[in-house]
Amino acid sequence: MVLIGPGQPEKGLLRDVFGLADVAQHPVCEVDQVRVVITPRRFKDRGFVHVVTTNPGPAKLPAASIRDRCNFSDSRPVLDRMNTILVTGATGNVGRPLVTELVRAGARVRAVTRNPDAVFPSGVETVRSAADGMAGASAVFLNSRALGPELAATVDLARAAGVRRLVALSAINADDDHSRQPSRVRGDRNREVEQFAVASGLEWVSLRPTVFASNFAGMWSAQIRTSDEVSGPYAHASTAVIVDSDISAVAAVALLTDDLVGQRIPLTGPQALTNTQLVDTIGQALRRPLHYREVPSDVVRQRFVGLGFPAEFADAYMGLLADTVDRPALVTHDVAKILGRPATPFADWVAHHRELFTKS
Ligand SMILES: NC(=O)c1ccc[n+]([C@@H]2O[C@H](COP(=O)([O-])OP(=O)(O)OC[C@H]3O[C@@H](n4cnc5c(N)ncnc54)[C@H](OP(=O)(O)O)[C@@H]3O)[C@@H](O)[C@H]2O)c1
Repeated sequence: MVLIGPGQPEKGLLRDVFGLADVAQHPVCEVDQVRVVITPRRFKDRGFVHVVTTNPGPAKLPAASIRDRCNFSDSRPVLDRMNTILVTGATGNVGRPLVTELVRAGARVRAVTRNPDAVFPSGVETVRSAADGMAGASAVFLNSRALGPELAATVDLARAAGVRRLVALSAINADDDHSRQPSRVRGDRNREVEQFAVASGLEWVSLRPTVFASNFAGMWSAQIRTSDEVSGPYAHASTAVIVDSDISAVAAVALLTDDLVGQRIPLTGPQALTNTQLVDTIGQALRRPLHYREVPSDVVRQRFVGLGFPAEFADAYMGLLADTVDRPALVTHDVAKILGRPATPFADWVAHHRELFTKS
């Protein structure tokens, strides 16, 4: 199969991208192991596409001959590198849309999940652990929550197995004091995942997202299903919420192109919204008069403890929020720069996920 970009006639593609002047001798069916990945808009403006070879079969045009004939030097690294991408945390908030993005781009994907019944797009290979999927992988997406105590060993294994690139899912607050990192209390190692990737000696990219949109379903949906009120700390604390699938889209660019190699990238949504504004936004999408009621910190702490969270988690969470009461949360523009389109607004995400706030 050949995936062709919008408006690219097949013969023109073969001639212009592969440098196959004698197109007639190379009909499309002969290069069906070649896929063309349409990369972000700014590449299209420059008029080229990335070319990826997968599964060169003996009866097909050999990948090497395509490489030799490729007249776009920028495409060569991708040609060389993109073989099999191992995705840890593949059933998760970032991993699941990432698997879909990679498959759409024509990549060969191995998804790591403990769940034998997990369903992925067709063609995705499922493995039970990162170790099981490492042989022959060219790039690995590292999710420290999914890897847990296997994180360091996974990076060692990747290096030993000849993996070329690691893309780490870290966090915007990875350098902050541990008392400001609630996720550490639940075992995530966002600082270490980046450090391991950087120290690996392999190509690396570290994605540092801020708070995911999906968090708000977890945090607030129970209250919203039963009342018009969301209560919590600091009504004026703000977050530049990022939509999870935007992180996945950036991760796909990190895995499929060379553009982001060696970068730590802070990823946020398009604007900082206070808790009051976030609840208003959900209310507008649900057409309900929702409002946020600020409650004192000790009440919030007791509530978390009642739900089974350590008090340490509650304190770190409130400390994080407290920092943004007088100074709005940082907004970066890396998502738009990398994807060539604006970051998805929280309102759009809520509009597409109303059911998360209405059904239990
Ligand atoms: N949420 C946020 O606001 C936020 C912000 C910045 C950074 N982060 C970081 O992003 C990472 C989480 O990413 P995510 O939300 O995509 O992950 P996730 O959805 O929570 O988990 C990804 C997958 O990992 C597996 N998994 C989850 N918990 C596990 C455990 N305790 N042991 C082994 N496997 C486990 C599960 O897969 P299977 O059941 O299929 O095996 C799960 O679907 C964390 O490091 C987090 O700190 C989060």
